[in-house]
Amino acid sequence: MKNVLVTGGAGFIGANFVHYLLLVDARVRIVNLDLLTYAGSLENLTELADESRHLFVEGDITDSALVNRLMSEHQIDTIVHFAAESHVDRSIHGPAPFIQTNIVGTFTLLEAARQAWAKDRGGKRFHHVSTDEVFGSLAEDDPPFSEANPYVPRSPYSASKAGADHLVRAYFHTYQLPVTITNCSNNYGPYQFPEKLVPLMILNALHGRPLPVYGDGRQIRDWLYVEDHCEAIRLVIEKGQPGETYNIGGGNQPYNLDLVLEICAILDEIRPAEKSYASLITHVADRPGHDRRYAMDVSRIRNDLGWFPRYDLESGLRQTIQWYVDHPQWIESISSREGFEAWMEKNYAARGAR
Ligand code: NAD
Ligand code: TYD
Repeated sequence: MKNVLVTGGAGFIGANFVHYLLLVDARVRIVNLDLLTYAGSLENLTELADESRHLFVEGDITDSALVNRLMSEHQIDTIVHFAAESHVDRSIHGPAPFIQTNIVGTFTLLEAARQAWAKDRGGKRFHHVSTDEVFGSLAEDDPPFSEANPYVPRSPYSASKAGADHLVRAYFHTYQLPVTITNCSNNYGPYQFPEKLVPLMILNALHGRPLPVYGDGRQIRDWLYVEDHCEAIRLVIEKGQPGETYNIGGGNQPYNLDLVLEICAILDEIRPAEKSYASLITHVADRPGHDRRYAMDVSRIRNDLGWFPRYDLESGLRQTIQWYVDHPQWIESISSREGFEAWMEKNYAARGAR
């Protein structure tokens, strides 16, 4: 990796990756292409380890002229593709941007890479960041997803990511584009937009608002601290086999309700209120088509590349909650942005959690 095009680097995981990569690799230069949708923010990119090796470009991954220009102007040798519409609930309310960004956007980047690297594919890599959600939903006693599981996506979000994964793989087989794919489980950590479970619960708790748990709260996700994900992605780019897919997961699989209770317990300790935050927990109407359980078999990345998560759920959650408590101005600024209240109203009012 020398000249890296990061897409979606103003979003949650992309921004964490930009911070991480500038810190751990003094040779890389990053061009960060991000449309700054509701989920992206330049406030996620302050205090970078080295500003001089980071160029931010506001633009759309579906804009092929722009992507082609960036590829040649900056002699890009590595693409790390995060940009996406990423929230399942939004995909239920309005799937169109998911198809456009996640499928058409990925196609646009693949075409740009195919053209730019047509003469020399040496040292090049297209890394696609995907999700465990493409594999569908597990019952409680099913074995975890391995890379060989069939794709059975069940939401517009996961279906659009599955479509993108298929395209990426097709470009390897058809055009020998040097690709890798990682399918990762649910991330949490600093800079996560407060529409997702962990930051939403922290934000609502700090404001004394209801903590909306969908359905019975006995759904299961496999939680991973975002820095562990960033480390895994770098390892796959540096050492992974072109054409290969790697599952990434944290091995932490609490029920949603237990995760929320743990968040409340940590908040009770570091920011005590009159009553325990757990008293704010409210069961609300379930998500349509709600996947019951995700779990990842990470033996390939562990055995082939030596990756393992450094954070367990307790230490990762503590670090995350402390970060949100220490950054009230970030929370204030993100949650006062146009559209946030409207989204909360749209998603939660009918569930009786407003
Ligand atoms: P996010 O929603 O926080 O950030 C997405 C970023 O992409 C934003 O900065 C947004 O402005 C940008 N973007 C959206 N449309 C764009 C477009 N057309 N052109 C350019 N930029 C655009 O998402 P995230 O949680 O950081 O997820 C990043 C990637 O990781 C996604 O591909 C997602 O599918 C995948 N992923 C996420 C998780 C998770 O738990 N968050 C888990 C596994 C995989
Ligand atoms: P989310 O963070 O949206 O991630 P994903 O749907 O991609 O897994 O949700 C994580 C889990 O938490 C999921 O089972 C849905 C549930 N959830 C709630 O119970 N309440 C909420 O307000 C949200 C946003 C999610």
